[in-house]
Amino acid sequence: MTDRLKEKVALITGASTGIGAGISELFAKEGCSIILADKNIDEAKHLCDEISKFNPNCLALNLDVTLEQNWIEVIQKSIIRFGKINILVNNAGIYSRKPVEQTELNEFEEILKVNLNGTFLGTKHVIPEMRRNKKGSIINMSSTAGLVGNIGSGAYGASKGGIKIFTKYAALQHAHENIRVNSIHPGPIDTKMISENLSTPSNTNKVISKIPLKRIGTVNDVAMGVLFLASDESSYITGAELVIDGGLTSI
Ligand SMILES: NC(=O)c1ccc[n+]([C@@H]2O[C@H](COP(=O)([O-])OP(=O)(O)OC[C@H]3O[C@@H](n4cnc5c(N)ncnc54)[C@H](O)[C@@H]3O)[C@@H](O)[C@H]2O)c1
Repeated sequence: MTDRLKEKVALITGASTGIGAGISELFAKEGCSIILADKNIDEAKHLCDEISKFNPNCLALNLDVTLEQNWIEVIQKSIIRFGKINILVNNAGIYSRKPVEQTELNEFEEILKVNLNGTFLGTKHVIPEMRRNKKGSIINMSSTAGLVGNIGSGAYGASKGGIKIFTKYAALQHAHENIRVNSIHPGPIDTKMISENLSTPSNTNKVISKIPLKRIGTVNDVAMGVLFLASDESSYITGAELVIDGGLTSI
């Protein structure tokens, strides 16, 4: 255990699996107290038990990021347990590969609701706590899909593009309070979210062939970037887009 996040408290959404789980484990190793917030509470509790073996300052809470009242309760419970929140990682997300024409309105709305509304609600409700501490770091999980277009996944791209620009507005609004807000833009990362895209060696090779660094990203590749934005090492960075994509969007 090192101490890049010593004495800090982080709330991480979508924390039970994939990138969120990787961020949670890395933060816990860096001395951070962590709240694992996920609508999959059983998985979140399981991960919390594992993390508690080396860092006892771990709490698993049930959170559906689309429900405002749920956010209010989760933040209250976090404050009761740890007294403050220094870092919020708005990581929870859902994905669809469907082309525009085949996407129903309710599917489009659901993706915006989880990815974009969830990020808005978390940011809105954590700001008063960060203001109380006169400092904070909010990290919003966007995607390369929020930077450039692609075939299919139009609803997902719209949600991630929304997160990118929302991040800049929140950053400007709260910079004078020393609350920093940044977005992360991963390329393809090996989690269950994109398992369909990587379902056969030929599909995987197709994805890899487009990536200059010639590999699929790992959860840890993303977690290391989130750690930097969460820590005081990035204290002069706000409103920024950190791209973690093996060079994909540089082509
Ligand atoms: N995997 C990739 O290639 C990739 C690339 C770019 C961005 N991202 C983004 O990274 C984030 C994490 O994705 P992942 O790959 O780890 O996916 P994942 O499916 O493994 O994890 C998503 C997590 O979000 C949780 N979640 C979903 N809806 C929720 C809700 N309404 N309330 C609370 N929690 C909810 C799930 O329970 C799960 O734990 C997402 O925002 C995703 O869009 C992923």
